[in-house]
Amino acid sequence: MIANFITAVQPAAGAPPASSDFMSDVIAGLSSEPRTLPCKYFYDERGAALFQKICELPEYYITRTEIDILDRHRTEIAAHLGAQINLIGLGTGSGTKTRILIEALERPAGYIPVDISEKQLRKSTALFHKIFPDLEILPVCADYLQPVALPSTRRKAARNVVYFPGSTIGNFEPDEATQFLRRIAKVCCHGGALLIGVDLRKDRDVIEAAYNDTAGVTARFNLNLLARANRELRADFDLQHWQHRAIYNSDAGRIEMYLISQIDQAVHVADYTFEFRSGEKIITEFSYKYAPEGFAALARNAGFEFQKMWTDDARLFGVFYFTCSADTSG
Ligand code: AVJ
Repeated sequence: MIANFITAVQPAAGAPPASSDFMSDVIAGLSSEPRTLPCKYFYDERGAALFQKICELPEYYITRTEIDILDRHRTEIAAHLGAQINLIGLGTGSGTKTRILIEALERPAGYIPVDISEKQLRKSTALFHKIFPDLEILPVCADYLQPVALPSTRRKAARNVVYFPGSTIGNFEPDEATQFLRRIAKVCCHGGALLIGVDLRKDRDVIEAAYNDTAGVTARFNLNLLARANRELRADFDLQHWQHRAIYNSDAGRIEMYLISQIDQAVHVADYTFEFRSGEKIITEFSYKYAPEGFAALARNAGFEFQKMWTDDARLFGVFYFTCSADTSG
């Protein structure tokens, strides 16, 4: 049973998270100091499509490297995860990585993808039904930052393995990341495990290039947040007057993504008015990079025991495998 993720039951699979959250989060974020907009709102239909494009950019090493690592080590990874597992995928998007993993798994009992993007979830579920006709798939359209009720598979599984790819864990502040992993630990207690993709610390130039691509796709992705507010919240951001910027903060070990006001301007969001000075920033995303030992320590703090990290030759990215060290179900 995996219903302990969980305190409140989400709308049935297929119902996307309510957009009223978007309104209150935008108002709160733009009212705070410094101003922020939560990065989870990047992924509306357009944003998800732009992120797909980012993943194919020459500068954006993250996705390509993670896929290469999975591809190269699939057999060994699958051996560590074991037979007849329930795989719970968090933010698995189009499913490219999960597909590689499931193909390598020995008789998986079930697959539960949890994703905020309804369209991607539908598409990937339809595709996975075709490729894996015997696999029970129970998609959940939800914001996994909130408590989510996970369905139970019919077949009895040997254990639960949570798969959290893409270095999305990097979007959390380290203490939030620890808390989030504690929540995951509850899902995979009783001998479960966690497979998680984490972007590793490296040269500033390599990191900054990945978030300031020459084709300008990341800029469009960032600006889409404002366009989305215009579409959904009766906002009037003039995209001409905002600029994308991404800087690596090496002390904190994170990329900081901003939208910078190019002029003094007033912006309306529904009935609210926000004044911005020229040069003023809105923080839209932090993306933390970890040293392998640093991430293992963070996970240990959350109740996980480090078992193995698979990486690429340049050690750009790590796929970490942890087992749950304690019974954290209480
Ligand atoms: C999906 C959070 C891993 O931080 O690299 C890509 C999102 N932002 N380009 C990342 C993102 C700008 C991405 N994650």
